[in-house]
Amino acid sequence: MKINRNYCRLTDNYLFSTIAAKTRAYQAAHPHQALIKLSIGDVSRPLPTPIVQALRNASDEMGQARTFHGYGPETGYPWLKTAVKSYYQTTKNVTLDPTEIIISDGAKSDVANLLDIFAPHCTVAMTDPVYPVYWESNVMVGHKIKLIKATAANQFLPLPSRRARADIIYLCNPANPTGVCYTREQLKKWVDFARKHDAVILYDAAYEAFVRDPALPTSIYQIEGARQCAIEICSLSKTAGFTGLRCGYTIVPNDLKAGTVSLNRCWQRRQTAKFNGVSYPVQKAAAAVFSSTGWTAVQRNLRYYQRNTALITQTLDALAWPYVGGVHSPYVWVRCPAGQTSWQFFDYLLTNAGIVCTPGVGFGKAGEGYVRLTGFNTTAQTRRACQLLSHVLTKFRK
Ligand code: MLT
Repeated sequence: MKINRNYCRLTDNYLFSTIAAKTRAYQAAHPHQALIKLSIGDVSRPLPTPIVQALRNASDEMGQARTFHGYGPETGYPWLKTAVKSYYQTTKNVTLDPTEIIISDGAKSDVANLLDIFAPHCTVAMTDPVYPVYWESNVMVGHKIKLIKATAANQFLPLPSRRARADIIYLCNPANPTGVCYTREQLKKWVDFARKHDAVILYDAAYEAFVRDPALPTSIYQIEGARQCAIEICSLSKTAGFTGLRCGYTIVPNDLKAGTVSLNRCWQRRQTAKFNGVSYPVQKAAAAVFSSTGWTAVQRNLRYYQRNTALITQTLDALAWPYVGGVHSPYVWVRCPAGQTSWQFFDYLLTNAGIVCTPGVGFGKAGEGYVRLTGFNTTAQTRRACQLLSHVLTKFRK
């Protein structure tokens, strides 16, 4: 039997599975302690009514011979592509051709599966800390990984350097886990660098809907030259509460070529061969996100999470505690108290406050000494967590 030995280079568990297991074990040992989860970026607001209605209608259609749908187009129904195209045109001033939009079951699978269309033994650059899926999926295929440190020294927003020379460059903007966001000028540097060195940027825009400042980029295609070097991956998980439904889209511009080979054609070919598309009811729900009533409701939920995140940052501000993020992102990247590692502070917060966070080192070595908190819980729970957090951190201030 010949297995892919690269899997032996992975840690035993995916970061968020480890946290979930630790949390379950702690809860079992302390059944009376209430825990507040500010760890994985999972939403807590229910789906808005227009989206639920679209799901219901689509399910009803599936139960009638006249309106039943079997296999759909593997890369998505045309009406959903049209809705995404119009979202890009109206909110980002980015013009897309519907053939460039490929509907998927979310950003996590696409950021990993996209590796199928690149050669073996690529060199890949990514930040440290980073969304673990980039790292792990590249380990699985045996690519050479170059880590670019995102630390306080570069405001957690590293710019291109010799070290970033690679075939593939992952950028997540606004960044997971640090919650910081590149400006258009900074992103332009990455686009110019990728074009100069014949690299492709895999741009994860999963958190673009959290950007509040219109001067900041919400799509890499707002940057001149990006159509020639970047693939953008986006998801409705955080934007519209689809973590349990699963729908996203990946944009591969028709201008993006490796020599004469179209990357769009490769990705479409990969998806049609290996994926049968997102279910009809879920795509109908996704189209409802971009309807006017759907979008208004989705915005209300986004503002809810932004207010929660502001509660966390206000708590830290009141203590003059070091952190970044939390403005254009649901994530706050918080310095651990002096002398504590990420996992030590994870345990400390769990046992002393019942707060479940994500240890920064889980996103890479450069995340050591930090933890990540999210604004995705309910406001009541976030408020309570902030009181507890304030109490805990005050002890370290003395
Ligand atoms: C996170 O918490 O970083 C993400 O929600 C995890 C994911 O999207 O897979």
